Amino acid sequence: MRNEVKNYLRYLADMGEKDLPVGEIEAAQREKQAQTAPKKRTQKVSAGDKGRLLGELAEQIARCTKCELHRTRTNTVPGAGNPDADIMFIGEAPGADEDATGIPFVGRAGKLLDKFLAAIDIDRDEVFIANVLKCRPPNNRDPLPSEEAACMPYLLRQIEIIQPKIICCLGRVAAQALLKTKAPLSKMRGQMFSFHSIPMIVTYHPAAVLRNDRLKRFVMDDLRFLMSKYEEILEGEG
Ligand code: URA
Repeated sequence: MRNEVKNYLRYLADMGEKDLPVGEIEAAQREKQAQTAPKKRTQKVSAGDKGRLLGELAEQIARCTKCELHRTRTNTVPGAGNPDADIMFIGEAPGADEDATGIPFVGRAGKLLDKFLAAIDIDRDEVFIANVLKCRPPNNRDPLPSEEAACMPYLLRQIEIIQPKIICCLGRVAAQALLKTKAPLSKMRGQMFSFHSIPMIVTYHPAAVLRNDRLKRFVMDDLRFLMSKYEEILEGEG
């Protein structure tokens, strides 16, 4: 029912006209909207339910054979952290330590990530950390586009379950995969992006910082930027 008609019916009702089907029309409209409206991101899912859904997804990932990486992996590395996290970090792919343990960012790059998080007063258990790929590429080579495409639905589902308020991409590979761009990281950092309507920023991968110490201050600037945006989001929520 078009709004003009509904408004006219309401006008007639206001003028004292009885037996107008305004209530029924509005109820039917609400029902139709409920059926057709896309699920709102704000729909509340309990932390327990999120944990259960992530666990089920992790089991599905553990059985995955969608790309050749399943042949060489020791463990899948689905992601770890708070299922109800406001902040989500997304890296590239597991390395040797992650493949051995099934936990993301536990090697040298992971230890440095922990230090960066501590510097902005965040414990890794508060946030959720995942990768674009859930299996280790041999010799830590860059993910192939076909591997990224095969694995992306898992990351998208994780984001859908967790509903983070802000995302931080760690490194070029994650940023380029999510933003579907070939832009260098130096051009992407310092900007706000939106990924599936979620605010997103990018910064250097901790492994890149291990190779080039001068990147450390850029990562710190980016993480402060992340936190200031996160605080703005919280303030906006009232
Ligand atoms: N590098 C990544 O991108 N992810 C990890 O989990 C470990 C190293």
